[in-house]
Amino acid sequence: GKGEYDHFMLKEINEQPTSLAQAIEGRIDPANGRIALSDFEPGTFEGIDSVQFVACGTSYHAALYGSLTLNQAGVRSSALLANEYSVSAPPVDDETLVIAVTQSGETADTLNALRQANAEGAQTLTVTNVVGSTAAREADDALFIRAGPEIGVAATKTFSSQAVMLTLLGQRIASDQRGEPRADTESLLAELASMPGAIADVLDDSDAAAIARRYADSQAYFFIGRGLGFPVALEGALKFKEITYEHAEGFASGELKHGPLALVTPETPVFAIFTGEEDEKTLKNAEEAQTRGAPVIAVCPDDHPAVEAADDHLEIADTDQDLAGLLANVQLQLVSYYAADLLDRPIDKPRNLAKSVTVE
Ligand code: M6R
Repeated sequence: GKGEYDHFMLKEINEQPTSLAQAIEGRIDPANGRIALSDFEPGTFEGIDSVQFVACGTSYHAALYGSLTLNQAGVRSSALLANEYSVSAPPVDDETLVIAVTQSGETADTLNALRQANAEGAQTLTVTNVVGSTAAREADDALFIRAGPEIGVAATKTFSSQAVMLTLLGQRIASDQRGEPRADTESLLAELASMPGAIADVLDDSDAAAIARRYADSQAYFFIGRGLGFPVALEGALKFKEITYEHAEGFASGELKHGPLALVTPETPVFAIFTGEEDEKTLKNAEEAQTRGAPVIAVCPDDHPAVEAADDHLEIADTDQDLAGLLANVQLQLVSYYAADLLDRPIDKPRNLAKSVTVE
């Protein structure tokens, strides 16, 4: 049941310290900087030349997150919408690893892309929450995120576990390819081990409810981020529109000036996510919106220059740039939740949507 919570969504948001701890349990070894993905022998990914992620919705945002961390680690990779894969898949061969990211393991679009990749001779892997799901049965290999059942239609805890597992997997693929781990693996793993605590801190002391109240009745809600902040911006907007029914859009920070800025008014709050990747540029982009009257809510550490410049602030711990976006995402999940609650929406079962989309 929902226990002390009014909605499964809030319960599941609050479960993230535990679900993340479960995801990484036994899979990292911060003491000696090793990624013990016991699911895979060392060297498993030696022969992989490139990686394609296929996924939909929130899982697509996690896939984009994973793909960007892989690119940053020097492995060729791309994230593709599974529902577009049949018309526009890049070529694959037996050195291509196609990773289907799907919480349920039953999403028709994602299964179709997985089947196509299997038929074309790629190596396949699924990152999923459901043992025994169709994706787990049909992919060559499976990596389980161990988030526990997610009842709310809005995916929350599964996103953070997917993103973390993809970050870990990406490090493994990169180190198998190179024959040695990235120089800063040790510090990344130490930060990762502290993530459940950092998420608990966000949950204990978030201003999200007040922010949701302050900006209720706005015309639209925009989310911007750069690097790993970009998938988090997309996810922040998807969650917001899905459960509040309000207009929300996510943009790469630098794209704002290439069109979306025309939408910006004093009635369109802009949530700006700072991950430590060229933050000064993101701050400039946010200030361009602010100049047009839009309130800016900076999601960043307390001692960040954006705090001063912005109208409001949602705090996250100062962590590795591979992980900062995940803390920002928790703040944005809470903003969406409280905004939807103010509007009295049926949060766990938004109109027109299903938990598992088994049609094309
Ligand atoms: O089960 P999957 O991860 O394959 O589901 C994919 C999407 O349908 C899903 O993430 C959807 O976007 C969520 N309801 C968003 O909160």
